[in-house]
Amino acid sequence: MIVIFGATGTIATPLIEALQAKGEEIRAVTSNPANTEGLRAKGCDVAIADFTDPASLVQACNGADKAFLVTPADVDMRQWKANAIEAAKKAGVRHVVMSTGLGASPKAGLVLGQWHSHSQELLKASGMEWTLVQPTYFMQNLLWQAENIAANNVYMDDLGGAVSWVDARDIADVAALALTGEGQNEKAYGLTGPEGLSGEQIAALLSEVTGRKIAVQAVTPEQSRAGMAAAGMAPVVVDAMLELTALAPKGYLGAVDPTIENVLGRPARSFEQFIRDHATAFGTAS
Ligand SMILES: NC(=O)c1ccc[n+]([C@@H]2O[C@H](COP(=O)([O-])OP(=O)(O)OC[C@H]3O[C@@H](n4cnc5c(N)ncnc54)[C@H](OP(=O)(O)O)[C@@H]3O)[C@@H](O)[C@H]2O)c1
Repeated sequence: MIVIFGATGTIATPLIEALQAKGEEIRAVTSNPANTEGLRAKGCDVAIADFTDPASLVQACNGADKAFLVTPADVDMRQWKANAIEAAKKAGVRHVVMSTGLGASPKAGLVLGQWHSHSQELLKASGMEWTLVQPTYFMQNLLWQAENIAANNVYMDDLGGAVSWVDARDIADVAALALTGEGQNEKAYGLTGPEGLSGEQIAALLSEVTGRKIAVQAVTPEQSRAGMAAAGMAPVVVDAMLELTALAPKGYLGAVDPTIENVLGRPARSFEQFIRDHATAFGTAS
């Protein structure tokens, strides 16, 4: 039995599919009772637990051999992951696969890298077997503005430089391998997509797939800050996000890591494929 935290989220949704395709039994964890029915309909055992409630996390882990741990980017994410790691240990989980972020290490210069590193070091010290998946910027983030792209034919570029976006389905496939394969203990997988793409290149791909001219419009850090604040993000998290995106114009987010291809034995999904697979969301029937 594999317990999956964040089961309704961006990475865990395709992860559950990938593990079920391998015949694994899943216990999906949600903090929202309204999500239980959908998870059961997928054939999962379901536990309701909250990252702030250690007892509920232990219950969610009871009887599981392995766990996948991801939390949302939140001001409390270090404490949430610490609670889940401790709960897994208490419940007798043997191996935890945890998703953090590319570049997370004790030497990380960025706040997000330091926060993720804190959780990584806790897991390593837990005595359980561990594997880390460390993704860069998700292609799925583009879906946040899909409605606007469909309605107004404009891609809002808040990065301002090349980024080697990764498809969360590839993150999930690597995590599935880490949870089911041999020799996965003490491995850390830095994950990027197959190419660094600028805002102009993304707009060109959107234009090609949708058959409409999609323009690119630069978003300033001040506009990004206002948008994230309006969405309810804590100021310290907004600062951390802006610190990360400020690396793009300097060219630091465009490097390609071959790990996905090396580990999975097939190329990482391209951004063009991602856009084609979500073409309806961007306003085309193709
Ligand atoms: N987006 C990016 O480009 C990017 C890039 C690199 C790294 N990351 C990292 O990836 C992580 C986010 O991954 P993701 O997008 O897969 O996660 P996500 O979709 O943001 O969240 C996963 C799930 O966590 C659950 N959740 C929320 N609050 C909870 C609570 N208090 N207790 C228990 N569960 C709770 C939610 O499900 P329920 O409502 O069903 O409980 C949610 O679906 C963050 O750590 C972020 O720093 C993101």
